[in-house]
Amino acid sequence: MEKILITGGSGFIGSNLVKYIHKNKPDWHIFNLDALTYAGNPRNHQALENDSRYRFIHGDITDSALLKKIFTEHEFDGVFHLAAESHVDRSISGPEVFLTTNVMGTFKLLEAGLNHTRNHPGKAFKFVHVSTDEVYGSLGFDEPAFTEETAYDPSSPYSASKASSDHFAKAYHRTYGLPVVVTNCSNNYGPYQFPEKLIPLIILNILDGKALPVYGKGENVRDWLYVEDHCEALVRAFEKGNPGETYNIGGGEEKNNLQVVHALCDLVDQKTGRKKSSRELIRFVKDRPGHDIRYAINSDKTEKSIGFKARFSFEKALSKTIDWYLDNMDWTRSVQTGEYQQWIQKQYSS
Ligand code: NAD
Ligand code: DAU
Repeated sequence: MEKILITGGSGFIGSNLVKYIHKNKPDWHIFNLDALTYAGNPRNHQALENDSRYRFIHGDITDSALLKKIFTEHEFDGVFHLAAESHVDRSISGPEVFLTTNVMGTFKLLEAGLNHTRNHPGKAFKFVHVSTDEVYGSLGFDEPAFTEETAYDPSSPYSASKASSDHFAKAYHRTYGLPVVVTNCSNNYGPYQFPEKLIPLIILNILDGKALPVYGKGENVRDWLYVEDHCEALVRAFEKGNPGETYNIGGGEEKNNLQVVHALCDLVDQKTGRKKSSRELIRFVKDRPGHDIRYAINSDKTEKSIGFKARFSFEKALSKTIDWYLDNMDWTRSVQTGEYQQWIQKQYSS
């Protein structure tokens, strides 16, 4: 039985990763450490509450004493580190927590991993540090996609904090030999994404007949990756990745924001039988400061070395994503109204 620690397992990607591993790795025991910030929702794993292969640990990655306790108690075979503050706009209005969680929290977790390997010499261990393509900065429209060799050039406080955490992760490998693998992926979408990010925000605003805010002229390009593809890549990075290496993970689906919003309008209209086109709700609003114009990932190394290639097309997976939100309106409404936070309060205040 592999004992795997997933940090941030109640957030968007973490929730999908917990489910993916639970389904595809029957001999792995999952420990989910999550502080349940606004972005964490323990209800995502209600079905696993009494499952012998899943355990939820409510706690903060900046809490060294807690990390020491759980590493000693469970002797993890590996870590998937996803806990983070993840929203660029929030990092612009309030950067400090991004340093605390993304930089300091990662440092504390690396320390805990290092102590663990020192206490168990010879025991297999791997630390997958989950990061973003935003660390590479902004690409021009004619420039080649980011490779693992692209120099770091972060634009936002979010991407600067992730870049810093990547450097610490690499440094812990080079200096202390901690078996760290760094993954840098593009924009994820799919079930359980908090409706502050473009795709779920637009879906829900269409359903509510609200304005659809498009920053600037909607020309910024992102490389969209379906979250299930990302989960597969992370498991491959854990199983096959070489310590000290970086693996870029992209969906190979570059779209500008206006194309994404148009696709969402047309698909939601089709699925809900809405007569008047939702495109009429589009509003071009003030641009995000420091808004990177384009991200695109070259995944050649990842494909060759760990055998990962995205399988989901944007069209099909976008349609699946909309279906998930339409079928799970109770989840969506409890997140929109903040009701899930009251549930967390009741559950965890003692
Ligand atoms: P998210 O915001 O949906 O979830 C983050 C999770 O981390 C939440 O459950 C939250 O409660 C938890 N958390 C926050 N601070 C914590 C702390 N101090 N201690 C313990 N838990 C804490 O984020 P996401 O979109 O799922 O992203 C997960 C990871 O993937 C992040 O590291 C992010 O930088 C990276 N990433 C995300 C994307 C994307 O498109 N969403 C793309 C590239 C990389
Ligand atoms: O590239 C990976 C990154 O993708 C991750 O590291 C981040 O955690 C994740 O949040 C995401 O960052 P983005 O800033 O690209 O995602 P977001 O959904 O916020 O925005 C996507 C694009 O849509 C971006 O160009 C800004 C634009 N946008 C966003 C919102 C919320 C709008 O035009 N209107 C909006 O209301």
